[in-house]
Amino acid sequence: MTKKQGLKRNLTNYGDSEFATYLRKSFARSMGISNDMLDKPIVGIAMTPSGFNSCHRGMPELVDAVSRGVLAAGALPRPFPTISLGEVFLSPTSMVYRNLMAMDTEEMVRAQPMDAVVMIGGCDKTVPAQLMGAASANIPTIQLVTGPMSTGRHRGERLGACTDCRRFWAKFRANEIDHAEISEIEGKLSTTSGTCGVMGTASTMACIAETLGMSLPDTAAIPSVHSERLVAAEETGRSVVQLIHAPILPSEIITEKSVENAFRVLMAVSGSTNAIVHLTAVAGRLGLKISQERLNQISDETPVLVNLKPVGEGYMEDFYAAGGVRAVLHEIKHLLHLDTINVAGQSLAEILAEPMDWVDRRYIKSYDDPVSDVGGLISIKGNIAPDGAIFKRAAATPELFEVEGRAVVFEDLEDLSTRIDDPDLDVQANDFLVLKNAGPVAAGMPEAGYLPIPKKLAQKGVKDMVRISDARMSGTAFGTIILHVSPETGIGGPLAAVETGDRIRFSVKNKRIDLLVEDQIIVDRLKNKKPAKTPTRGYRSLYSKTVLQATDGCDFDFLLHAPEESR
Ligand code: FES
Repeated sequence: MTKKQGLKRNLTNYGDSEFATYLRKSFARSMGISNDMLDKPIVGIAMTPSGFNSCHRGMPELVDAVSRGVLAAGALPRPFPTISLGEVFLSPTSMVYRNLMAMDTEEMVRAQPMDAVVMIGGCDKTVPAQLMGAASANIPTIQLVTGPMSTGRHRGERLGACTDCRRFWAKFRANEIDHAEISEIEGKLSTTSGTCGVMGTASTMACIAETLGMSLPDTAAIPSVHSERLVAAEETGRSVVQLIHAPILPSEIITEKSVENAFRVLMAVSGSTNAIVHLTAVAGRLGLKISQERLNQISDETPVLVNLKPVGEGYMEDFYAAGGVRAVLHEIKHLLHLDTINVAGQSLAEILAEPMDWVDRRYIKSYDDPVSDVGGLISIKGNIAPDGAIFKRAAATPELFEVEGRAVVFEDLEDLSTRIDDPDLDVQANDFLVLKNAGPVAAGMPEAGYLPIPKKLAQKGVKDMVRISDARMSGTAFGTIILHVSPETGIGGPLAAVETGDRIRFSVKNKRIDLLVEDQIIVDRLKNKKPAKTPTRGYRSLYSKTVLQATDGCDFDFLLHAPEESR
């Protein structure tokens, strides 16, 4: 039986399919669409503009350009909204709503009559949510990103959200700049539409979407305001119509090999720690899992090639002009699976068949002359992180790679904000700051892992300390920070046993983080711990009851399935 196309897909269930078609067509005609157009295949455009999402300010132009491409290729474009997640506008953290957006996206794609879909996202959680939804809905899909912001200027210096936000805030906390200047900088950090202009989570996820094959080649890094982004949007519209005629499904594009390629690129661009959680969740939707051992192997084999903030010097606009994702892929070609395919039906071997004419080596280094010999991120384990934790070695202080220190413990986020700047806080520069109860179940896993340097130490010039938590940190942040400790403290993970004054040993060489306390004492201390209090109603209750730990991507346990056949 041939599958129904266009308006006849996913009919409303009245028990009379002819009536359902007639009624649907009648309402579609009420939108002023001709019968001729209504007989064409339909492309949904998942759009995510919002008055609470500055990163998606360019959405209307992108939707227009995609629609233009769809029409030119002979299909009917139908934009539809899903929820949108503006990173800094959501409490307690956008992470809590990523799965909600993924469900919204999946269900609206499944429920409405579309033969293919273009998903337009950009801000940190939106692209992973859309990729998760795409993997589960499993109809022909192309991901389009809103693109990175361009830089602003402050007293002759280029500024980009949000590494420079943090850098200047640290200076303000250390009394190096005053109120007037920080207020001036506030207006210059995010001056155009688009996503944070460094290799933070949004940019990393854009590179990952392109590497997976879910976006068209060369589209991840085009600046938001650049005319090329609109051209790419139009081309995305044309290409998605081809996918209707010769379907390639997300489940054929997102495979173990393409996920491994994406992890390689994550290492080579020295991308965000959050991307590990998101890529794990996307892969999990298709029953795929890359082990922590394999992740470390990939990291140890893949050099950092990209010299962008937060670990280097440039911004995304430099990365685009330097050659973008294609240039990175060329440099690590010998490490990649070249038989993966993308939404245009090209294998990676075909995409990389021609050498690059020119690459700006200030921002994209060659394989033989890398920024660093090994990848940016590693998984570590230890008696306080038996299921693993993540460490961004590329953004850390090498002098703190093999150290032992005294723990200074904060029981939760409130305790942290109450005491971190207390002049009487007993803390030294070589102590380890430990934050508990900030994991997925206890707190929704906010980006609180970038614990501030206590003010009294910051004012003495201390720039970095070892910090440990079950939280995440922003992809634009930097420092010697151990994150995503699993299992989290709120469900009895052994990090909960750490007390102020305990000694902890951290070794990057051995990929270990260990509490130097006898095992039996750890067991005894954990016996007295109560699980975190969690919400009892609504979505937040569903979240805390079903969210998986960071090592499994923080997806909901009931969404980890291979795709069903699309309805
Ligand atoms: Fe949207 Fe940074 S706040 S990408």
